[in-house]
Amino acid sequence: MSQPHHRTVVVLAAGEGKRMKSALPKVLHPLLGRTLLGHVLSAAAPLGADRTVVVVGHGADQVRGHLAEIAPDVVPVLQAEQLGTGHAVRIALEAVPDATGTVVVINGDVPLLRPETVSALVQAHEGEGAAATVLAAEVPDPTGLGRIVRSADGRLEQIVEERDATAAQRAIREINAGSYAFDVVRLRDALGKLSTDNDQGEEYLTDVFGLLNSAGEPVAVHVASDHTETLGCNDRVELAGLRRLLRDRINEGWMRTGVSLLDPETTWIDVTVALDRDAVVDQNTQLRGATVVGSGAVVGPDVTLIDTVVGEGATVLRSHAVGAEVGPGASVGPYAYLRPDARLAEKSKVGTFVEVKNSEVGPGAKVPHLSYVGDATIGAKANIGAATIFVNYDGVNKNRTIVGEGAFVGCDTSLIAPVEVGAGAYIAAGSAISKDVPPGALGVTRAPQREIEGWVARKRPGTVSAAAAERALRAAEGASPGTAAASEGEAIHGDGRALGGESPEGDTATD
Ligand code: UD1
Ligand code: MG
Repeated sequence: MSQPHHRTVVVLAAGEGKRMKSALPKVLHPLLGRTLLGHVLSAAAPLGADRTVVVVGHGADQVRGHLAEIAPDVVPVLQAEQLGTGHAVRIALEAVPDATGTVVVINGDVPLLRPETVSALVQAHEGEGAAATVLAAEVPDPTGLGRIVRSADGRLEQIVEERDATAAQRAIREINAGSYAFDVVRLRDALGKLSTDNDQGEEYLTDVFGLLNSAGEPVAVHVASDHTETLGCNDRVELAGLRRLLRDRINEGWMRTGVSLLDPETTWIDVTVALDRDAVVDQNTQLRGATVVGSGAVVGPDVTLIDTVVGEGATVLRSHAVGAEVGPGASVGPYAYLRPDARLAEKSKVGTFVEVKNSEVGPGAKVPHLSYVGDATIGAKANIGAATIFVNYDGVNKNRTIVGEGAFVGCDTSLIAPVEVGAGAYIAAGSAISKDVPPGALGVTRAPQREIEGWVARKRPGTVSAAAAERALRAAEGASPGTAAASEGEAIHGDGRALGGESPEGDTATD
């Protein structure tokens, strides 16, 4: 009993999936983080099989390529012509002539199957010493599926496909879910005896049950408690239905572990995502791939995170991130775009309409508005003014910019890489910085401002601006009936602000 069982897994994935109407083989369609085939393989993974064989046919090269990526140990076996599920298993077993023990066969198009269910099927089979065990389920609508035909004493007699069934058999709602466990020796023997005497002229794997039963071999049924696990996928409408079911299952799982989902129906979380306790996910949010959200973080509404790690207590609002890292307590958005290798340190801020790529934003540093940060290192507590652009690309090469700790970059600055702004340096608003600025210095490149008096009245007569200017000038004249020239100058420019490059205080937008 304690002897480990030898197991071989066979996944059937050669069919075309005609009704998907797709250039992509059916089993490669994605479903919340894995392909259909990927889901089936991960449901079988805990069996600890000696070998896993996947029968490929339609789109064989694409399916093989995908397998090489996600499960390089899997043995793909080509079934050039799809002559039935029995034929497919026969070919699969030819690739593993030395297999002993149990063969677990799973249709490639049942992605909601749980690992626990596959394990329970196999344990029941091995525990009973059955020759063959089929996974069954009682379903509300059995249309199109194979029916489990039992004898008066409740034992499995045979499995009948709907198209070969009698009216009485069609009324049965217990169906073949498309997963099986077999004793390899008796399976090989029975596969050699399959006929094609059925409506489709195919070798049916399901006929193995009738054959073994007639030969007096013990065949068994294992009933799945949740029939939705056994749902197959034949077209895109069914795929969308499976996606909703899987979404609900995933979301319920997270809520039960202590994650708040404020609107589960609009929250789509891949099976590959990890969420810590007390994370909050607000509505209309997609968490995909290797995304991780830490405890107390708030993500959403309207957020897409792909392969992105969000630290404890961080917030991400109405934003899109791919391959990024958001540190603990950091804040992102609304409307930020984080691209691969955007790394935001703890308590940093990337605000509205800001794009960050391949850059570090240091602890407590802020990029609050309307900026592009590419190939940069921004030091701790540096402040990057609105509309600052890190000019990283010279048309040929990408270059890096370094902004030192505590530096203060004025609004509408271009930092033309490669360039370094020293720790605690200031950059005057509107500068184009292409030379290094030493620590504590002010970098400024602005041209001096000049005013051409009366330009609007002369060059833009009759415009809204000209009329407004005239009114303002007249009002100023009325207010101080001194010399017209002096009062004009005061009304337009005399707001007391420094206009040169000397004193750029107030040059960054603040939050
Ligand atoms: C099969 C079962 C049916 C069961 C249903 C559950 C048979 C004869 N019938 O029917 O009792 O209720 O699954 O979903 O097995 N495939 C191959 N090579 C082939 C034929 C099929 O690899 O030559 C693969 C398909 O890609 C698919 C799986 O086997 O992944 C099942 O084949 P499919 O044609 O979908 O069988 P069903 O008619 O659904
Ligand atoms: Mg099917």
